[in-house]
Amino acid sequence: MTRKRVLSGIQPTSDSFHLGNYLGAVKQWVELQEEHDAFYCIVDLHALTVETDPTLLRKRTLVSAAQLLALGISPEKSTLFVQSHVPAHNQLGWIMECLTGFGEASRMTQFKDKSQKSGTDTTRVGLFTYPMLMSADILLYQAHYVPVGEDQRQHIELTRDLAERFNTKYGQTFRIPEGYILKEGAKIYDIQEPTSKMSKSSGSGSGLIEIMDTPEANAKKIKSAVTDTGREVKFDLAQKPGISNLLTIHSALSGKSVSELEAEFEGKGYGDFKSAVAEVVVEYLRPIRARALELLEDEKHLIDILHDGAQKAKEVAALTISDTYKNLGMVL
Ligand code: TYM
Repeated sequence: MTRKRVLSGIQPTSDSFHLGNYLGAVKQWVELQEEHDAFYCIVDLHALTVETDPTLLRKRTLVSAAQLLALGISPEKSTLFVQSHVPAHNQLGWIMECLTGFGEASRMTQFKDKSQKSGTDTTRVGLFTYPMLMSADILLYQAHYVPVGEDQRQHIELTRDLAERFNTKYGQTFRIPEGYILKEGAKIYDIQEPTSKMSKSSGSGSGLIEIMDTPEANAKKIKSAVTDTGREVKFDLAQKPGISNLLTIHSALSGKSVSELEAEFEGKGYGDFKSAVAEVVVEYLRPIRARALELLEDEKHLIDILHDGAQKAKEVAALTISDTYKNLGMVL
């Protein structure tokens, strides 16, 4: 039986991934590569939708690759590549733009949020068409599943709509993908502001746990995480968002269930609990950061892995482009 296909992507917009990226997405990427035909891409074209610095973009693309490998993505099991190495993404991106209604694109909540923050003059057209390029990323590989965090749900819905629309109008061309969004961990919150999602574009950064940060810095951040009124370590998103978020993080990394943790910390204070969370996070991330730093010392090796991945990705993507063009009536 052929293995089901998985595709996902991550933006190289920061010097480090954060725990939300890992628990919401990359942890599932690592698990899924065992039984699936997995394609994972570093979406550098998407990163251009906001102001970028060439030195930083290059550095962050390589740091992203190093982190993905250190987190457990295996180049033998998965196809790991950089989006811009496979020009078919742009080719299909344009087709998706020509299939999307202006109103439909205007309803994308991520675009609305980001453009409201920066105003229409500085908002790039690329930010508006971002979801159509993301649809192209997914549909090119005929993916069955797309492992992402909760914040990407609407983009996956759009992708499904566009694929169905195309298939109905022009004949069967694309597989309709499904989001692979976990119940636990699909939304990790900022540890200083536990009602907002953990995000690189939020606040001061003190609410963000970063993979490439030093163990000491992360321990300090977790020990000063915001907690809630009361004393009990109990999962209650409405009344105790801070503690609930820390419980989710501990549970995802230690493998203990939330109820086991509640029992373990019964009668103990928030201070003890935060120290335990700090310990779990720091010890989990310590070898990953070390491995990523080691991989970054050999840039050529990293780039070779990405080029090999792009080669495999190009072959699959070319098949979809030729079917798409043929079905659209383009002369081949
Ligand atoms: P990006 O780069 O913002 O984030 C990468 C992944 O991390 C997840 N994530 C979170 N999950 C839980 N809690 C959080 N606080 C949190 N913050 C981020 C995101 O949901 C995502 O899965 N548009 C995508 C990149 C992309 C893509 C694709 C994804 C481009 N093409 C094709 C899948 C398929 C994005 O901006 O992810």
